[in-house]
Amino acid sequence: MDVRSHPIERFLAATAPEHTATQAEMAELADDWGFPTIGPEAGAVLRLLARLTDAERVFEFGSGFGYSATWFLRGGADAVICTEFDEDEATRGVAFAADGGYADRVTFEVGDAMETIERYDGPFDVVLIDHQKHRYADAYRTVLPKVRTGGAIVADNITRGPIDFPDLVAHFEDGAPLPDPEVDEETRGIGEYVGTVRSDDAVETAILPVGSGIAVSTKVV
Ligand SMILES: C[S@@+](CC[C@H](N)C(=O)[O-])C[C@H]1O[C@@H](n2cnc3c(N)ncnc32)[C@H](O)[C@@H]1O
Repeated sequence: MDVRSHPIERFLAATAPEHTATQAEMAELADDWGFPTIGPEAGAVLRLLARLTDAERVFEFGSGFGYSATWFLRGGADAVICTEFDEDEATRGVAFAADGGYADRVTFEVGDAMETIERYDGPFDVVLIDHQKHRYADAYRTVLPKVRTGGAIVADNITRGPIDFPDLVAHFEDGAPLPDPEVDEETRGIGEYVGTVRSDDAVETAILPVGSGIAVSTKVV
């Protein structure tokens, strides 16, 4: 059975929050472009995390045209720093923000997110990692000192996406080696990310099977 037609998946889709008008336009554009947004099921978790952390500042690695950012804003986040190396996507994001009336709460930084983060000081209340999978663990290590205690780090595409999920299952169940980076750097990147956060006492992590699967870590030190 295709996992997307599983009754639990259908139930989650049917009970996810409704899109705002701007989010609905973004979803339409994502369909047109075949662009992978985080979707409303995982978006609802971003909204929840912003609300629970009373978020003032959020940082995103990989924002596209700002769909995920809108969920943080819906959770009350004061400001979201979006990073995107595709100029067209960022330009669309700026236009959506203007049309949606939230341009004063988002900043689009065009360029490599790994360089952009070096120019920002913390503290951040929530961070989303959703860029190149082989750089997730590096992004985590770089941003962790800038996340406040009690803040959250979310990584997307943990169970689905351009990864070989059975390889990940074999790794975590039986200790099978992760794929060679030359063969499959994306699956390897996700495996390394999950291994990194699970072995780091600075955070506590739960993996939630919503959307493409998200790892949610909270900083405890
Ligand atoms: C999965 S999409 C992000 C989706 C977005 N978070 C959402 O839910 O709508 C990944 C995006 O990250 C961008 N990207 C990948 N690597 C990046 C990097 N190193 N710096 C900035 N953007 C990057 C890609 O161009 C792409 O738009």
